[in-house]
Amino acid sequence: MIIDCDPGVDDAMAFIAAARWADLVGITTVAGNVPLVHTTANACRLRSLLGLDVEIHSGADGPLVGVQEFATHVHGETGLGDVVLPESDRGADSDDAVGYLVETTRSEEGLHLVPIGPLTNVALALRADPGLADRVASITLMGGSALGVGNVSAVAEFNVFADPEAADEVFRSGARLTMIGLNLTHQVRMGAVHAAQCRTVGSPVGDAMTGLLEFYTKFHLAEEEVSDGPVHDPCAVLAVTHPELFTLEDRHVQVELAGSHTRGMTLVDERGARASAAANCRVAYGVDADAVIALVMQAVREG
Ligand code: BDR
Ligand code: CA
Repeated sequence: MIIDCDPGVDDAMAFIAAARWADLVGITTVAGNVPLVHTTANACRLRSLLGLDVEIHSGADGPLVGVQEFATHVHGETGLGDVVLPESDRGADSDDAVGYLVETTRSEEGLHLVPIGPLTNVALALRADPGLADRVASITLMGGSALGVGNVSAVAEFNVFADPEAADEVFRSGARLTMIGLNLTHQVRMGAVHAAQCRTVGSPVGDAMTGLLEFYTKFHLAEEEVSDGPVHDPCAVLAVTHPELFTLEDRHVQVELAGSHTRGMTLVDERGARASAAANCRVAYGVDADAVIALVMQAVREG
């Protein structure tokens, strides 16, 4: 698995899950929740925290079109809430995420590419080498939404909204796509109860997860008056490592680029045989949320 990410509170949780459950080959970073300088530094710090021996390559510092959207109100100014991880003594291995994605998928076929941030790096890699779409076992992305559930707008999800043109190119690439959208991740929620459990672990990973969940819970309490929040990004990692926990349906998915109210929406054709075009994506609808949360908690305990 290669993770393309913008850490990010829930990206950090995805790192914890991947360190335990995935055969992680490498990490690329993109601007998204916070600027690239922070997403890359956070990825390096998380690599050290988790003792991961993988390369990190930074990539795009903004979308293909338009200006960068950040989500600092969700993730804090530097991306990991108020969790301050020790500085890493190893920096990024290069600033050529696109070259890394192209070369690594050439030297090792059958990798799963797991984008959990805006899709800019992935789109640029597909532009550089369209054959990448066939070489990867899947692009299993956290992004978009079925059933019209948005978070940035009524209908748009952040990772797609932050670079709709890139998402559009990925959805039209012909790659084996799996979409882990908000309709799915809103079913997998962690909060204060889990933070308290993580606190008892008594390890650097346990402490980091405690802080991440506490920050996240504060945000959701203030915004939505609920004591837990959706843990989006770990779902994409676990959809690759534990596919039996997810229910997927083939669908045709298009990204809305022009709508004045709907830009960044993933338009999922739910009409079955009457759909306007053949399915280009497996869309996740169902999940064993308790099992996913149990895997995340086990990763924290054993991290
Ligand atoms: C997605 O947007 C980001 O804020 C999260 O890290 C996640 O990848 C959820 O919409
Ligand atoms: Ca993310």
